[in-house]
Amino acid sequence: MAEAGAGVLVEETLQVFRDNYPGCEPTVGVAAPGRVNLIGEHTDYNEGFVLPVALPMVTVVVGCQSSNGIISLLTTAKEADEPRRLEFPVLTESNPLSPGLPCWANYVKGVIQHYRAGPLPGFKAVIASNVPLGGGLSSSASLEVAMYTFLQQICPDNGDLVEKALACQKAEHTFASMPCGIMDQFISVMGKKDHALLIDCRSLEVTPVPLTDPSLVVLITNSNVRHTLTGSEYSTRRKQCKEAADALKKETLRDVSIADLTAAESHLDAEVYCRARHVISEIKRTTDAAKALTSRDYWEFGRLMVQSHNSLRDDYEVSCPELDELVAAAMDGEGVYGSRMTGGGFGGCTVTLVDAAAVENTIQRIKDNYSGTATFYITKPSRGAHVLKL
Ligand code: GLA
Repeated sequence: MAEAGAGVLVEETLQVFRDNYPGCEPTVGVAAPGRVNLIGEHTDYNEGFVLPVALPMVTVVVGCQSSNGIISLLTTAKEADEPRRLEFPVLTESNPLSPGLPCWANYVKGVIQHYRAGPLPGFKAVIASNVPLGGGLSSSASLEVAMYTFLQQICPDNGDLVEKALACQKAEHTFASMPCGIMDQFISVMGKKDHALLIDCRSLEVTPVPLTDPSLVVLITNSNVRHTLTGSEYSTRRKQCKEAADALKKETLRDVSIADLTAAESHLDAEVYCRARHVISEIKRTTDAAKALTSRDYWEFGRLMVQSHNSLRDDYEVSCPELDELVAAAMDGEGVYGSRMTGGGFGGCTVTLVDAAAVENTIQRIKDNYSGTATFYITKPSRGAHVLKL
């Protein structure tokens, strides 16, 4: 079982700060969570619904303001490319930031560039995370949102949370070249303890769905594989969705019913048709699943999760053999309601809804049947980005 407590992470991060910036004391500490999506995959950029949960795993930023006009950043992530410490002058209108190397800093620089107040003062900050990097649990959104939350402490903006999530999404689009939807940044900002959030990605309205039943466990299984192509395949899927919506003369696939799609089948490229069928059916599954969870009908919820996985595998083609193996192993036993890949796909994690009494057997069965080495996290819905008491 993985997952160091956030308290330990904060203590370690403070120590790294003191060791690297002797004579300075950190005055600001913030944390922002990763996420797991229960259902509603590849629907956010089609203005559909998603149902994510904020994780107890977080990215932490600690630091202090400085008066020399220099921004100094240090990451403790072992996976980060070198240099892990870098310094640059505070940005000005005539001297904006631009993406470059090291890669890890692009998320941070993007947030600084798109921050909604200013001018920003110089600062020193150490960044640390226990969200597995590149594991499909939104380590990048948690980094962006943590950084934004840090900047709010040293140079307050107007506090608008939706604008905050949108600015972080923009940072990812422009500095990490990842044309993501809004789900990851939104849940990292808005996450609510003991709740999943049904997010309408068109209106950005949020409906919290309680998830407090002690007999129900959300089990995350990390395949520990990450296939390349993830970025390029993601933007291809986005383009195919747009192509389908354009062909049906609609703004987005949110406005298209399965009947509309079926009627137009002969005018659409076969692959584009399948992509659209996934999105349209997934949007419906997500609102149905939120209803099932609200009425504690876990078997119905689980059935929809498995349908979602199959649709992502067959119609959207973003799964991979490892994720399929993990889902099959999870489902092949007592007390498991449902299981599916979660996040963008091509590796990363699955999410499984399981009766508390069956968790140990389920984990053992997955270990016995998975051809790779999996890591497991039993997770509880946690709060969104917040300021830490140092
Ligand atoms: C990635 C993106 C999200 C979303 C998911 C798929 O995590 O960042 O915006 O599109 O993939 O549901």
